[in-house]
Amino acid sequence: MGLLTGDTLGPLAVAVAIFLLLVDLMHRRRRWATRYPPGPTPVPMVGNLLQMDFQEPICYFSQLQGRFGNVFSLELAWTPVVVLNGLEAVREALVHRSEDTADRPPMPIYDHLGLGPESQGLFLARYGRAWREQRRFSLSTLRNFGLGRKSLEQWVTEEASCLCAAFAEQAGRPFGPGALLNKAVGNVISSLTYGRRFEYDDPRLLQLLELTQQALKQDSGFLREALNSIPVLLHIPGLASKVFSAQKAFITLTNEMIQEHRKTRDPTQPPRHLIDAFVDEIEKAKGNPKTSFNEENLCMVTSDLFVAGMVSTSITLTWALLLMILHPDVQRRVQQEIDEVIGREQLPEMGDQTRMPFTVAVIHEVQRFGDIVPLGVPHMTSRDTEVQGFLIPKGTTLITNLSSVLKDEKVWKKPFRFYPEHFLDAQGHFVKHEAFMPFSAGARVPGSPTPPRESWRLGPGAGLTGRSFPTRRPPRLPRGAPGPHGALPLLHLPPAALQLFSACGAAPAQRPRGLHLPEGSSPLPALCGASLGAGTTTPRRPAPQQGPEVQ
Ligand code: HEM
Repeated sequence: MGLLTGDTLGPLAVAVAIFLLLVDLMHRRRRWATRYPPGPTPVPMVGNLLQMDFQEPICYFSQLQGRFGNVFSLELAWTPVVVLNGLEAVREALVHRSEDTADRPPMPIYDHLGLGPESQGLFLARYGRAWREQRRFSLSTLRNFGLGRKSLEQWVTEEASCLCAAFAEQAGRPFGPGALLNKAVGNVISSLTYGRRFEYDDPRLLQLLELTQQALKQDSGFLREALNSIPVLLHIPGLASKVFSAQKAFITLTNEMIQEHRKTRDPTQPPRHLIDAFVDEIEKAKGNPKTSFNEENLCMVTSDLFVAGMVSTSITLTWALLLMILHPDVQRRVQQEIDEVIGREQLPEMGDQTRMPFTVAVIHEVQRFGDIVPLGVPHMTSRDTEVQGFLIPKGTTLITNLSSVLKDEKVWKKPFRFYPEHFLDAQGHFVKHEAFMPFSAGARVPGSPTPPRESWRLGPGAGLTGRSFPTRRPPRLPRGAPGPHGALPLLHLPPAALQLFSACGAAPAQRPRGLHLPEGSSPLPALCGASLGAGTTTPRRPAPQQGPEVQ
């Protein structure tokens, strides 16, 4: 201790500072490589972390795009990040260079939760054999259990009826549709994984949904980023388990449910659902230490499908309801097409879509405009690659700004408006659009290689919007900041205060604040209004003049 006094302290501090600067420079040396994408100047140790606008990342990226072009770089502490913007850059990286860009950044936090290289599930799994094995398995199994087949249609139509009944039960009271949509969509996924649906008040379902929300919140917080960037913090006893308590509880509950289903498995019968099929694979792979068919991964894959499928589809449906309420003209045309092609007594079938170009165009436009995963899910380069003439070294995190593709002003006629005509030709036929990337593109697209099916996942949405929501037009959505989605927002939620009415005859006092129906409006029989209060999360990219708005 005596050595650290007087004359020695100053030089020691200088030596430590020089050492740290050298380490920092070493981590950033790639920035000086030729053809590395440009970006704002990083600060020693923290990189661009302090400049980054975590509240409005898409606006921030939009500004940087204006300054540096479609491919620019950032340093988040010592993590090198390249942000890809616009159709051309995103397509080149994810489609043309998909072999180089399909990896995910490592997540030390998950290793710490006890998940090894063979049990990373699907969503965050590193690009390699285990991911390929699970990807192939889940796609073929979901297809066998009905993705696109009659049996799934039956689950979906049955669920849509239950959902409509639950909406109708709200008669006279304002309500947010999110919770019911979560339950309905959760049930559809559950039909594939567990072969069953839950009543909407079933404690198991409520617990699954509650834990999903909590886990998503924990998973997008600052602490998670900190633990991932500085994994040594994970050694602080109990910290990781505390931070990820909801994820742990979700995994425990999923495991319990899996074990219950395993007890009733009759091996002489064909598998009833994904869990049975997975267990069969575990049996086949016994003795192979390299297999990803193991107990932990069964739980991870089941959890990934539930969370990824439930959250994204439910949010998309909420956007669909909101946009139908705001655009009664569009809703009327959808209703008319449904009446003509399906009729009021029939239930919709997957095959109907071929005769419903307007409805299909509306579903696509809801997804384009809703833009629910605005920054995609991070990818990572697994080898040196080149995008738009820039060199991107192995191990660089890629943020794919899907929002910049779905709202690319060079591509879409009215990027910031809800405009189903984006997907219709002059004769009213449905047309595909290469910039339609709500599911991202390339190797990690959910459902690839059959993406067209994805859109009809919203079959129940079409059934609901078309049949049940005569509306009147509320005032424009206020422009507002995105909701608190955590460090980098994974999901773009519709206005937090969206409330639907069942029966506009509700007394004004019962109406949610912010809803201004025209004077003297007469009661309507079904859901008929929206409360558009604070916390609105409509398009966040700065538009040329005032900022885009929902129209
Ligand atoms: C309705 C709308 C949906 C949207 C907008 C959506 C969007 C996305 C996006 C943007 C990704 C990231 C792709 C990438 O890394 O490049 C993703 C991944 C994924 N999604 Fe979806 N998704 C939807 C529905 C579903 C459904 C219904 C399921 C399952 C039943 C699902 C399961 C997954 C899985 C497992 C992944 C990870 C794929 C991988 O990394 O290999 N998604 N999704």
